[in-house]
Amino acid sequence: MLVFLIGYMGSGKSTAGKKLAKLLDYGFADLDDHIEKRSGRRIADIFAIEGEEEFRRLERLYLEKLCNLEDHVIATGGGTPCFGKNMELMKRSGKVVYIKMTASALAKRLSQKDNTRPLLKNTGNKSLENFIEEHLAQREKYYGQADVAVSGLSLDVKELAQQLSSTQ
Ligand code: S3P
Repeated sequence: MLVFLIGYMGSGKSTAGKKLAKLLDYGFADLDDHIEKRSGRRIADIFAIEGEEEFRRLERLYLEKLCNLEDHVIATGGGTPCFGKNMELMKRSGKVVYIKMTASALAKRLSQKDNTRPLLKNTGNKSLENFIEEHLAQREKYYGQADVAVSGLSLDVKELAQQLSSTQ
């Protein structure tokens, strides 16, 4: 089975994904890392030099490749489910889990990390939290299509692993 973790930037998809993969005895793949390794370019450079459209094309391409794996947990990028028919592809290929977090929790987490995320570099005249609040609201309609939604702040990965194996 494939498990896709979706959620906003900073929601902890990669950290939870690695733990979940261990518990399920599955492999782990991170879509952003995969794009960087396979394309030989950094995400920030793809955005800066070629633009978001090219990034979304690569994201779709490598998502399709990862969908051929078996028994893996795949951490996606925050925008992955919101473009093209990526959500449809993920739902067809496995179980999609949304790691949900409030805009204020995300803003706290994202302002603490060194900010290399291209989409958060320029929040214009808005505070980081306001920007996230609006952006998250636009994305909720995609995130909301997940098969399972869990709270990122009180995430019990063991419980999630049990839930996923019982509905396999
Ligand atoms: C993006 C999220 C990033 C990365 C890219 C675009 C987005 O991944 O894919 O910068 O559109 O939300 P993380 O969610 O791992 O930061």
